[in-house]
Amino acid sequence: MPETVLVTGGAGFIGSHTCVELLDHGYEVVVVDNHVNSSPQALERIAKVAGRPLTAAHDVDVRDRAALSAVFAAHRVDAVIHFAAHKAVGESVSLPVEYYDTNVGGTCTLLSVMRRHRVRRLVFSSSCSVYGEAESGPLTEHSPVAPTNPYARTKLMCEQVLADVCAHFAELRVLALRYFNPVGAHPSGLLGEDPRGVPDNLMPYVAQVAVGRREELSVFGADYPTPDGTGVRDYIHVMDVAEGHRVALQHLDEHSGMQVFNLGTGTGTSVLQLVNTFARVSGRPVPHRTVGRRAGDVAALVADASAVTAAWGWTTTRDLTAMCRDAWQFQQLNPDGYSSRSSLAAGPTTGESPCS
Ligand code: UFG
Repeated sequence: MPETVLVTGGAGFIGSHTCVELLDHGYEVVVVDNHVNSSPQALERIAKVAGRPLTAAHDVDVRDRAALSAVFAAHRVDAVIHFAAHKAVGESVSLPVEYYDTNVGGTCTLLSVMRRHRVRRLVFSSSCSVYGEAESGPLTEHSPVAPTNPYARTKLMCEQVLADVCAHFAELRVLALRYFNPVGAHPSGLLGEDPRGVPDNLMPYVAQVAVGRREELSVFGADYPTPDGTGVRDYIHVMDVAEGHRVALQHLDEHSGMQVFNLGTGTGTSVLQLVNTFARVSGRPVPHRTVGRRAGDVAALVADASAVTAAWGWTTTRDLTAMCRDAWQFQQLNPDGYSSRSSLAAGPTTGESPCS
């Protein structure tokens, strides 16, 4: 009998790609998402890309204990992947209560509902931002944590809650995956990152500049102690992140308690390197201008990605060119995100941009 995985935040950027990966590998998938920062249309796209439907999708807030419990009562859940959270660093500074409530409160509610329904396997969506600027050079899972903003602190707090709960309930199995910077899109061009309003993150902003939806990119600081002065990050293809979750599920029972792993490539890329690669891959100029540093940013965050390879024999396979190519494909086919229905009438192509 196939395993049933409950995915919170399954309509979001990483969640939707993970749902496709799970459906592609025979899992039954139940989504819980309140669409506060995701489109219900992503759920239709998941089924279209995977060629088979989700088992169910519930419009539920993870903080709503009764509604969440009803979802667990309606399905035989074998494991949970918990993505549902707020994730914008800048927004977290101005909305700290909302961030702690949803991210930490939601995780606590989920844990108590899982316990009530005797579900004991969880993959948790954590973040490289927990490391802050504590160390230069590649970050291992043992590097000191020093989060620099409320968003990052919520992720670290969730990890601490999970570790404490695991210490008490011996049957619980938790894998916390600290992603570096997930970017790109499904190669079909049907699924991708669809931020509401002005994108907070670099890749979707660059894609919107390339397609002509925004005039120019603001480069947040060119005076960092990095080779070209711009911020360096470890960008990881969202398909690799999705695959990482599927592989994590296979390894959940190998250890008791909680384990933490980085999900990154080990390769650092500067803002300017990403902009230049995107311009080359898309054949479009990406006008940009240096402005001041963004509050809460750090100079460089790059993973030592070796632990997950040693533990699971798994590694990322997609490079920066693939990340830019797939992000561009999604942007071309969906110039206004998931609401750009007309551009999809002809289905995915690799041809000219609909905006050209
Ligand atoms: N940047 C710009 N201009 C922009 C946006 C970003 O120059 O318009 C720069 C940033 O200063 C940084 C780099 O691009 O140097 C990457 O910034 P992002 O906002 O894309 O991502 P962050 O490194 O801030 O990471 C945050 C969270 C991660 C999360 C990631 C994607 O800390 O946990 O966003 O959501 F994975």
